Amino acid sequence: MKKEVTQAIEAFNLGKLVAIPTETVYGLSAPINNPKLIERIFKLKERPFFDPLIVHVSSIDEAKKWCGKWPELAQKLAEKFWPGPLTLVLPKNDKVSDMITSGLQTVGIRCPNHPLSLEFIKELGIPLAAPSANKFGKTSPTHIDHVKSEFNSSDVYFLDGGESQVGIESTIIQINDDKVIFLRKGAITPSMIKPYCDQFEFTIVEADPHKILAPGQIKHHYMPKIPLVLVKDKGNAFENAKAASTLCGIDINLGRELVLSEDPSMAARILYSEMRNTCADGVEFIYFVFKQQWSESELWTAILDRLTRASSFIG
Ligand code: TXA
Ligand code: MG
Repeated sequence: MKKEVTQAIEAFNLGKLVAIPTETVYGLSAPINNPKLIERIFKLKERPFFDPLIVHVSSIDEAKKWCGKWPELAQKLAEKFWPGPLTLVLPKNDKVSDMITSGLQTVGIRCPNHPLSLEFIKELGIPLAAPSANKFGKTSPTHIDHVKSEFNSSDVYFLDGGESQVGIESTIIQINDDKVIFLRKGAITPSMIKPYCDQFEFTIVEADPHKILAPGQIKHHYMPKIPLVLVKDKGNAFENAKAASTLCGIDINLGRELVLSEDPSMAARILYSEMRNTCADGVEFIYFVFKQQWSESELWTAILDRLTRASSFIG
């Protein structure tokens, strides 16, 4: 066993939480059978108890042990996309506590694609409940330094697994009797899932924005420490900066552009670290210019979802 995995297991015995690397973002974890530590996640994160946690497993067989139902579609999707950035919301069984699911009768479950965390879960012998390792509503961490900037080593053991390669949180889908509801967009897109839904005669539906099915999907989320302004492409850099500064009422000279990549996979990977880096000293607002042609891309749509929730102003 790796030394840091042994230390991470020991950290739970000492009453600490463990920050775990995943391919999406870092998680703040506790064993699902330890109510005291699960409660500690909500306290340290300042997260309301109505927002349920995702359960992280190391295999399909392990996932099945915590679900009340495991439809064939879940089996097929897990075989295809796990380990990977897809969370399945399914009926839970009695072994999963209400604190983890916020009283819902369903559980969100996924197998993360990171060797260190997979080894950790296997060695521990019990799944980990883990939200993203950031204070509630703030920008998600894609590097261990991001986690260290918000939590203390007296509360959290830091498992360093390098930079998260996907960079945005997992896709979340709820599997009902004949419907697959998209609760959160991510790197696993509707068109990747559709062939499996067709095979088992499930229809894909978007979550109704007026009904909160995934309680964490609130309007203000992922927010950087200074205002982010989202502007539609208006041609040139000065026009864009001016539009952004007018919207937030701050002098144009105090703004800085958040620059990502034209390639959506790369843009997703660097999104949160660039959001943090752009908020340098002396900068009072940051702005991002969204190009119209990107709205055709499913992955850009998932990135835009984060940027929209992170923004204070949209123009
Ligand atoms: O990529 C990810 O999913 C990361 C890594 C650490 O795995 N985790 C993550 O967790 O993003 P968190 O807590 O920041 O977001 C989880 C979302 C919340 O919005 C919550 O509402 C939703 O998952 N969720 C969890 N269980 C659910 C359930 N039973 N039904 C509906 N939504 C659920
Ligand atoms: Mg989160």
